[in-house]
Amino acid sequence: MLKNAIPNNLSFYRGKRILVTGHTGFKGSWLTVLLKFLETQTTGYALAPEPGSLYEKINGDQWIHSVIGDLLDTKKLEQTICEFQPEIVFHLAAFCFVKECFENPVKTYQTNVTGTLHLLEALRKCSSVKSILLVSTDKVYRNKGDGAIYQENDPIGGQCPYSSSKSCMEILAQDYRRSYFQTQDCCVGLSIARASNVLGGRDQTQSRLIPSILHSLDHHLPVSIRHPEQTRPWQSVLDALNGYLTIARYTYQKPLLYSDIWNIGPTKDGIRSVGWVFQTIQKSFQDLKSTEGTSFVVAESKTLGLDIQKSLTNLDWEPQLSCEETIQQVVDFYKRQQAGESVDKICWEQVKKYFKKNYETISEK
Ligand SMILES: NC(=O)c1ccc[n+]([C@@H]2O[C@H](COP(=O)([O-])OP(=O)(O)OC[C@H]3O[C@@H](n4cnc5c(N)ncnc54)[C@H](O)[C@@H]3O)[C@@H](O)[C@H]2O)c1
Repeated sequence: MLKNAIPNNLSFYRGKRILVTGHTGFKGSWLTVLLKFLETQTTGYALAPEPGSLYEKINGDQWIHSVIGDLLDTKKLEQTICEFQPEIVFHLAAFCFVKECFENPVKTYQTNVTGTLHLLEALRKCSSVKSILLVSTDKVYRNKGDGAIYQENDPIGGQCPYSSSKSCMEILAQDYRRSYFQTQDCCVGLSIARASNVLGGRDQTQSRLIPSILHSLDHHLPVSIRHPEQTRPWQSVLDALNGYLTIARYTYQKPLLYSDIWNIGPTKDGIRSVGWVFQTIQKSFQDLKSTEGTSFVVAESKTLGLDIQKSLTNLDWEPQLSCEETIQQVVDFYKRQQAGESVDKICWEQVKKYFKKNYETISEK
């Protein structure tokens, strides 16, 4: 493969027409800021933002052309795509909270499988599209919880409606690639990124660890920790999004070579226990206390590890922030927000700092 043969994200993305599904969600809001920084022309397609969400706090409509629509509304979806004529598509929209997915499997499969089917079908009819990135998760692996670190060719299937619906989405996408996107008459790049848990400022999802810690701090309550011994790969939201941008760029330039499945996670440094993450945050907030949490409705595996060697070897991408730096960035975000700084300013500055560091590191190689 041709690592480093393709211009970096900063120069490549300027002026490109990008469609983001799920731009009103947590990752989508960060991606919205990032694409503004990269000077793309971006349209987003998603449900309305949740009250108090990051998208609302950054006043997301100032950064992106936002279309509020459902993936299940095929007419609106097709019309949006047809009018905008995107070159690159990031598909983030999903129903993705493990507990809520377990309680509502029909909505989970409808959004994650049928919604993706509608999107791919609409994209198939749009000749401007050159590169599609579908965002999946490390939870698709058939995780035995025995400390194994999973590679892209390990069996998938998942253990609950969320992970199984994402596995179905992947199978569907690979069929679309073979049957429609890469044929004698057509050559569109289509990749899948399996990301691990991301950490970043203003994640409002209470079932995730850091948001629940910050929520407890806000309310002067002890934080409920379910399984301090369980390990997970933790990565910065900016490292994950930079990974997505890198894959879509390679897939755009060399669709036959790079249309593939890519793990996007931290180095081994980021595979840490829940207890370690809690204690690291506690260093910044002496008053923070914990209590033993009640078990989750879905059985949680003891370990989850992601092998990112294939991405490190073949793409000019690597995580830039250590686990401590990532946590520090979230803590800084929280403290600055508490001190009254505007959320859009904090996001913009963190993106700017990240990219400066990112490209200094790459150009030093
Ligand atoms: N956050 C993480 O730690 C993490 C880890 C691995 C993978 N992922 C994946 O990354 C993606 C984004 O995650 P997130 O944390 O930003 O999620 P989120 O819940 O914050 O955002 C989900 C987005 O999808 C949109 N959406 C949901 N149903 C829709 C529908 N029927 N039609 C149109 N839009 C719809 C929502 O409006 C929102 O914009 C998801 O695909 C998720 O599976 C997230």
